[in-house]
Amino acid sequence: MSALEREAAANDAKPHTPPVESRLPAVGTTIFTVMSALAQQHGAVNLGQGFPDFDCDPGLVDAVEAAMRGGHNQYPPMAGLPLLRERVAAKIESLYGHRYDPGEEITITAGATQAILTAILALVRAGDEVIVLDPCYDSYDPNIRLAGATPVHVPLKPGRFVADFDAIAAAITPRTRALVINSPHNPSGTVWSRADMLRLAEMLRPTEIILVSDEVYEHMVYAGEHQSVARFPELAARSVVVSSFGKTYHVTGWKIAYAAAPAPLSVEFRKVHQFNVFTVNTPMQHGIASFMADASHHLGLSAFYRAKRDRFRAGLGRTRLRALPCDGTYFQCVDYSQVSDRTEADFCRWLTTEIGVAAIPLSAFYADAFEQRIARFCFAKKDQTLDLALDRLASI
Ligand SMILES: Cc1ncc(COP(=O)(O)O)c(C=O)c1O
Repeated sequence: MSALEREAAANDAKPHTPPVESRLPAVGTTIFTVMSALAQQHGAVNLGQGFPDFDCDPGLVDAVEAAMRGGHNQYPPMAGLPLLRERVAAKIESLYGHRYDPGEEITITAGATQAILTAILALVRAGDEVIVLDPCYDSYDPNIRLAGATPVHVPLKPGRFVADFDAIAAAITPRTRALVINSPHNPSGTVWSRADMLRLAEMLRPTEIILVSDEVYEHMVYAGEHQSVARFPELAARSVVVSSFGKTYHVTGWKIAYAAAPAPLSVEFRKVHQFNVFTVNTPMQHGIASFMADASHHLGLSAFYRAKRDRFRAGLGRTRLRALPCDGTYFQCVDYSQVSDRTEADFCRWLTTEIGVAAIPLSAFYADAFEQRIARFCFAKKDQTLDLALDRLASI
């Protein structure tokens, strides 16, 4: 074909996008997006999606700005800024008594979501099974599927949302490669006890199962102390621990987090990280490293959110919604069975459009859309936002 003929053929050809067979055929628009859009459309107070409606400490923004103006704008090392990794290691050691080597065992990631996906892609093979405990954060299941593995959903005990160890043990097969746990727990607000962690260690002892421990709400605990897997040497040796600066410093939009894991797991983790995001933006890492030097910023978080939790729960006491226990996170679940027998999704839609408060149906966190007449609110909001929502909720 001559160049001219080729030109003519290109003009005649109908543009055609090759069809793709979806790798995630069941994934659509998430309930969080749907509810946020509905909330905006109806002027509802958005207690649905989990993010603060207040700003972070201006000192943190100053620190990032200083880093940008100071010329820290090029690629940092692949695993993250050494000073930030050192500060993370020091924090974990001071709180949980386990020393991770910042050079080899801590990696800064683009949010906890990327850390969890990276851990699963690095450590799980096609054909493996990975156990997740429902209700659970919505990225786990598709992450496991992307690795070619099979998610095995085991419910937490209904109503109490504690681990059902007999059910987990029954779900373990020779193909089980990993278990994902999350404490403090989104969406239920429960926290694992020391006894739970010891039971978990006992259950995993005879196995080669890797634990992915999602601890993004580690600094929001209102009953006892956070039981990081890092407190338990036996568990730490088989775990990737994930935490999120986005949650801790009120900057969810910055998408910055870390993963801590023993060297043999971190080596594999970094291989995937390196060819996925490679590394995470430099000025935020500098800013967070300098802000983190003052431990009161993370140590004070539980008291800060406890006050919001107490305010919100006191207000709920004046409504017909029954507040479930909330020992951690910034989520409060309510049982609405006194008010309505609608399904959870219908109830949340009604609450948003008719009452003007957006919430998330708990069924959205279950693979089988299990129904309990429970909705989840996020109380990481200004006091006046919470009060406005409570005034509206009092009317139902
Ligand atoms: C349990 C849980 N894990 C992970 C994440 C994601 O954190 P990040 O924003 O750092 O990706 C969230 C955010 O809502 C969460 O609730």
